[in-house]
Amino acid sequence: MQNMYLKGGKLFVLDQTKLPNEEIYFTPKTKEDYYYAIKTLQVRGAPAIGIFAGYAMAMLDGNKEELKAYLDSCRPTAVNLSYATSRMLKAYKDGKNLLDEATAIHNEDIEMCRKISEYGLSLLHDGDGVLTHCNAGELATSKYGTGLGPLILGAEKGYNFHAYVDETRPLLQGARLTSYELEKAGIDTTLICDNMASLVMKQGKINAVLVGTDRIAANGDIANKIGTSGVAILAKYYGIPFYVLGPYSTIDYKCKTGDDIVIEEREQSEIKEMWYKKPMALPETKCYNPSFDVTDNSLITAIITDRGILRAPYRESLERIKDND
Ligand code: MRU
Repeated sequence: MQNMYLKGGKLFVLDQTKLPNEEIYFTPKTKEDYYYAIKTLQVRGAPAIGIFAGYAMAMLDGNKEELKAYLDSCRPTAVNLSYATSRMLKAYKDGKNLLDEATAIHNEDIEMCRKISEYGLSLLHDGDGVLTHCNAGELATSKYGTGLGPLILGAEKGYNFHAYVDETRPLLQGARLTSYELEKAGIDTTLICDNMASLVMKQGKINAVLVGTDRIAANGDIANKIGTSGVAILAKYYGIPFYVLGPYSTIDYKCKTGDDIVIEEREQSEIKEMWYKKPMALPETKCYNPSFDVTDNSLITAIITDRGILRAPYRESLERIKDND
């Protein structure tokens, strides 16, 4: 399943807000179309947003610096967005072919996801029960995914895993996207409400937790979908390995700790109204809807990147894989 592809000079993009009921592709034309697609999560998942923004920079005419600033302002937490727009801006200033550069970002992500998935798979055993949170599969990346990559690659290689999928309130990326993707990949999948994670861990059903990430700070703190830190605390309590999977481009060395990560806050209606026929709270009831939370590095068993499996102390292990630039 491809979340976006080029054909006849046009970009076709799968509208993730319509899943799992409809598989509809659309073609963004204006800068507002691209912005809206990222903002409303038609395109979502840190690497996928970066790839999509790369194509936006290539396909749209006009002032590229302004376009970069406009796209970057859309969702602040995932570093891949500004990584891709910065790279495209540099390619533009260097006089490179922008469509080639955007395609290179896309193809490199496929390569990175494959490596991450191989490393992740080396930590799992056939028959393992694995808990996931949010969606970090092919929809959120390019191919295989990060958090889901070991499961999807493992299924290709004949492993049998049992995936327990947190529904991931409030936007239900786990229910709508992860269970859909894993079912399609032929993986034994059980959907659970987020607040059931403790029970399935206590029942011994979970051998490992796999999650993606939107930003990795220089000390190994990570930002990921709201609820991730709670899952990590539970995993620590039950002695279950908690693995974070993400490409090198997700590491933000300028960000010293998780406290420096900007957390996106989203509309209150996503909690009160979005999936219901009638509002589930009074109009005057206040909601707090941060889209991500920060997981402390002390709760992370390993960070799995395309450059290898990193262990604590993360400041040192992250420094060891850093480019010299
Ligand atoms: O708000 P979303 O749906 O873009 O959140 C996505 C996640 O939290 C993913 O787990 C994260 O981007 C890692 S993507 C491989």
